[in-house]
Amino acid sequence: MADRKLKLGVVGLGRGFTVLLPTLAFHPRLEIVAAADARPEARERFAADFGGQALESVEAMCAGADIDAVYIATPHFCHADHAVAAAQAGKHVLVEKPMALSIADCTRMIDAAATAKTHLLVGPSHSYDAPIVKARQIIESGEFGPLHMITGLNYTDFIYRPRRPDELDSSQGGGVVYSQAAHQIDVARYLAGGMIETIYATTGNYDPKRPTEGAYSAMLKFASGAVANLTFSGYGHFDSDEFCNWRGETGGQKNPANYGTARRSIRDLATMEDEGQFKADRGYGGPSAAPFPTQPPQGLSHEHFGLFMLSCRDADIRPMPESVRVYANDEIIEHPLDPPTVPRAEVIDELSAAILDGVASVHTGEWGRATFEACEAVYRSAEGGGEVRLSHQVVVGSNK
Ligand SMILES: NC(=O)c1ccc[n+]([C@@H]2O[C@H](COP(=O)([O-])OP(=O)(O)OC[C@H]3O[C@@H](n4cnc5c(N)ncnc54)[C@H](O)[C@@H]3O)[C@@H](O)[C@H]2O)c1
Repeated sequence: MADRKLKLGVVGLGRGFTVLLPTLAFHPRLEIVAAADARPEARERFAADFGGQALESVEAMCAGADIDAVYIATPHFCHADHAVAAAQAGKHVLVEKPMALSIADCTRMIDAAATAKTHLLVGPSHSYDAPIVKARQIIESGEFGPLHMITGLNYTDFIYRPRRPDELDSSQGGGVVYSQAAHQIDVARYLAGGMIETIYATTGNYDPKRPTEGAYSAMLKFASGAVANLTFSGYGHFDSDEFCNWRGETGGQKNPANYGTARRSIRDLATMEDEGQFKADRGYGGPSAAPFPTQPPQGLSHEHFGLFMLSCRDADIRPMPESVRVYANDEIIEHPLDPPTVPRAEVIDELSAAILDGVASVHTGEWGRATFEACEAVYRSAEGGGEVRLSHQVVVGSNK
């Protein structure tokens, strides 16, 4: 069974797909056989790179291609319809974060997968990362007592990366709460057991030219008694990769001398349409796109989502790109991690284990819905809702 490869179709050949491309190209349990995208240039490039069928819609792809599963990397507002269409065609689904833009849509996706008896996973997100998994193992061992407090801090240039208009419109799923809290909250839930009871939060919308939430600060209280304080800013000033050995989010070495690159790259674009075109040109199939990788990227460390400090009774635990460092009572203990050979392999490991080997997943539809519920609660609290109580939470490794 371990030799069988998962036959995957991809819907949405944009930036998310490009980030996952080295994983899709080099993961040993994967075969990429088909794609669907609205852009002809992306379909042409897919046919050239993978030799597979590239069609215009998820429905056509699922009807025509011999695939086990579909990876959905279309804009946020498309996720629910595309996941339901794939499930109705009998295909397993890996859907990008955020899972959808409403609890009702998350539930619709979960129900469609249950009816079709297919798997529904949400990812990639940074709770798959090996340092986070190792940190959770250390916490779960109980050696350092209960987890009391999580501090998460991430400062990036998210708001100034080239965007489509809807990515700067919160009503269409834009802004950092849907896109980035979906990572930070996911990591905190994974480390603290999953069950958030309440959230109190504020959001920041600081640049009138980029009129969406670019920052938030949230306090999550867990059923376990642990508390997480999570702060994110996407305004491109301080870069918290400085706290992560100058490794970027995807594990590559970063040059601090490139300060301000994202802000400068969009400065001379007159309209949002120009910016959307600029993004598409750099995207898959565009004239300035990166070439197909001929080998897995070299010299990578593990991925991360900024600084996390996990305070247990007898230690502060710090997942880092190359190791997990434990600041215990009398000593500092370093747990080195082997570097990744295929980036984001953990995501395809979990997907292929679920589908090919029947191994239970962590990042199920129910898990994704619970993380989405928490993101939505950040908005509700920030809009005057005070401390918001949650009701769709699930524990790690359970769908109930
Ligand atoms: N996990 C990560 O590191 C990461 C990074 C970037 C993006 N993402 C996620 O990827 C998803 C897509 O974002 P993006 O930045 O790649 O956007 P994008 O605009 O770069 O790509 C979206 C692609 O979907 C295609 N598309 C749109 N509507 C379609 C439809 N109805 N049928 C078929 N194709 C359609 C577009 O032509 C485009 O190629 C989002 O969920 C985003 O959060 C994840």
